[in-house]
Amino acid sequence: MLVNMRDLLADAQEGNYAVGSFSVANMEMVLGVLKAAKELKAPVILQIAEVRLKQSPLEIIGPLMVAAAEAADTPVAVHFDHGKTLEKIGQALDLGFTSVMFDGSHLELDENIAMTKKVMEMAQDYDAAVEAEIGCVGGSEDGSEDIAINCTKLEDAVRFETETNVDALAIAIGNAHGNYKSTPKLRFDILEEVEKNTDVPLVLHGGTGITPDDFVKCSHTGIKKINIATATFDMVENTVHKCYNDGGINGYYDLQAAEVEGAYQNAKKHILIFGTDNKA
Ligand code: 13P
Repeated sequence: MLVNMRDLLADAQEGNYAVGSFSVANMEMVLGVLKAAKELKAPVILQIAEVRLKQSPLEIIGPLMVAAAEAADTPVAVHFDHGKTLEKIGQALDLGFTSVMFDGSHLELDENIAMTKKVMEMAQDYDAAVEAEIGCVGGSEDGSEDIAINCTKLEDAVRFETETNVDALAIAIGNAHGNYKSTPKLRFDILEEVEKNTDVPLVLHGGTGITPDDFVKCSHTGIKKINIATATFDMVENTVHKCYNDGGINGYYDLQAAEVEGAYQNAKKHILIFGTDNKA
């Protein structure tokens, strides 16, 4: 069923786990993620980022994501990831997304706070949740930019929460989008301080390549939403590749099944690590 992300994250805070937020680009990925969620009785979040809309137009994939969530057996929130323009954020809200992110991480803190508040006003009319970001997660969602990591400052997190009361806050603790060049060293000292001094559910972007141990540690230290994108795309592509090599693809529908399988395996793996199984 389609649910508000706020409720999923509140349950995660109470249950001491994190919810996987899986980026999707087409129907096959949506089906794969929801198959894993159903099998493991897990709540999940389906998301798409604004930079990906050139490949998957919002007016087409948005209704598909919402319809799939409505028909799902477990609680599913539909989230607009890395919203950059008020126009697209408004469109996602109109389409029934139950949460939107405003990514003002590149702005001065004052401006980020002001813009986040504006998005919260927009979202209020739909009772949708809002995620914001402070500090800079490295890389970029579609790999087009190599943004330097700039770890979140504790005082900024406290101020941001107090002034906005935002539903979820993405922080930068050494994490980056895309495949890491070397194993990331997350700044758990920063995460612990932010968790201790705030109540807002925290979000970890750049989930691909983070070790299972670090995921678990994050999920026990205030991180309640973990974004996974590249791992899904890679697993879908690799599964298709392998099926071709093994002679398992004879025609289009075998190709489609291989895509669903890749997204399913990837979501299943992460749901088990995040501890979201049997939480629906
Ligand atoms: P990865 O592509 O590194 O998994 O990052 C996903 C993400 O944070 C999307 O917002």
